[in-house]
Amino acid sequence: NSSVGNEPGRPLIHLTPNVGWMNDPNGLFYDEETSVWHTYYQFNPNDNVWGLPLYWGHASSKDLINWENHGVAIEPENDKNGAFSGSIVVDRNNTSGFFDNSTAPGQRIVALYTEQSTVGESQYAAYSLDGGYSFQYYEQNPVLDINSTQFRDPKVFWHDETERWIMTLALSQEYKIQIYTSENLKSWELQSNFSHHGILGYQYECPGLAKVPVVHDSPSNVTVSNNNLTTVDHKWVMFLSINPGAPMGGSFNEYFIGDFDGKTFTADDAATRVVDMGKDFYAMQTFSDAPNGDVIGLAWASNWDYSAYVPTEVWRSSMSLARNLTLRPNSPNPETTQLALYSEPLIDYSALSTNQSMRKTSLELSSEETVTYRLAKAAEGLLEFSLEWKVNSSALPSKHEFADMSIYLRGVEDDDEYLRLGYEVNAAAFFLDRGNSEEDFVNSNPLFTTRLAHFIEIFRVAEDGLPIYKVRGIIDRNIIELFINDGSLTSTNLFFLSEENYLGIVELSSNVDDVFTILNFEVKQLGL
Ligand code: FRU
Repeated sequence: NSSVGNEPGRPLIHLTPNVGWMNDPNGLFYDEETSVWHTYYQFNPNDNVWGLPLYWGHASSKDLINWENHGVAIEPENDKNGAFSGSIVVDRNNTSGFFDNSTAPGQRIVALYTEQSTVGESQYAAYSLDGGYSFQYYEQNPVLDINSTQFRDPKVFWHDETERWIMTLALSQEYKIQIYTSENLKSWELQSNFSHHGILGYQYECPGLAKVPVVHDSPSNVTVSNNNLTTVDHKWVMFLSINPGAPMGGSFNEYFIGDFDGKTFTADDAATRVVDMGKDFYAMQTFSDAPNGDVIGLAWASNWDYSAYVPTEVWRSSMSLARNLTLRPNSPNPETTQLALYSEPLIDYSALSTNQSMRKTSLELSSEETVTYRLAKAAEGLLEFSLEWKVNSSALPSKHEFADMSIYLRGVEDDDEYLRLGYEVNAAAFFLDRGNSEEDFVNSNPLFTTRLAHFIEIFRVAEDGLPIYKVRGIIDRNIIELFINDGSLTSTNLFFLSEENYLGIVELSSNVDDVFTILNFEVKQLGL
């Protein structure tokens, strides 16, 4: 990560700003001319907390792992304003008239975003003649203004079927996602409202609609065959951010699966589904023009409940890893099969080295024995692990006791500081406990340490009839991203050991005998 510092705790492969504050990802697009991924973000270069004037910062990457920061890309009109969240489209056919032949079709970049001023929030357009590095502002801004103070976060895409631009944006405090259409990105017509769906919280933010591929070779143990699910090759998914009001506290992303006819989004059912069950995954947006029609998401890896206090100084916040999003058949229980969102982290292993690794297979866990693995280069801080385990609950000594299998990720200087995660049998819950740190921030902030526990479905059933579960984790200094059961459930969380107490010991243990069989446990230390 050449353009940023290497302070303790600063993630290596997750995007962070060089200096200052970062929140939502904005304007994500892939430039097919240069094979570069562009990411913009809510940026306050003048302080390490949110504040006005607020800008769009800009970063780019060839592999979504090595990031280069380019500073400010879009500015607000004056210092009392903010260039709030929004999106970028590639206007190949120059529908906007902003371009001529000197700009390659794949680099006709138009940004639509919210200008927040002292009087309200309205939608602005800006365009770039140099592939997204600098922007000109449309002279007739705003392109959309309804005299509201809570009207923001336009996400735009080209709808092939009706040959028009579609914009979703939040009429935040009326709990409406508005859907507008346009032929030129400049004049917008309201078509429908998707209103009062899901968990409402205080307000709606950062909506987005995407055509998500349905993958039929589901990795999980699908129990019911359902013809409806096997015929479709895609569904429309509406993503929505809520803050505050998350069930796990603060901010979170939910989604709805349904159909879109060019004007109206109709959800298939009344369920509220959660994109990521962790505390630090917000304002997810998808990339415009990703290769092969893939739907690639990126989120801000923090939570408005405590983002301003987390113990980093020079910079504050990172993005999540980019994720490939698909819909797959999934069985939460033996009598239901439904589509669910699956997330797979996009990690280009050719850009990473494996510095050290260990693997255990067919291991019966007992309460006497702990599998301990010491990292050779603790300070580097980039790790990946995968764990597949089988549960024999009939061997449980009692139904009244906590019966767990836990991974402890301990500090190398002080092993009483640790992050703990694992599975508990009676609750059928995967848990994460980040409360064991001497770090003042952790100790003093109950919003950070509140419980994190998720129900997880069975991944597959073994020949002996016992359930098998699976988790993959990526740890990058102060962030852990968990992909459970091949990504049907993800959980993204920050964690903080005290400074200089690098994560250096990985332990696997259980408090019960004969209940857990480890089919596979692998830990790799990676380097950039
Ligand atoms: C979401 C959000 C957006 C807004 C931006 C301002 O985190 O509140 O609704 O555009 O942040 O920074």
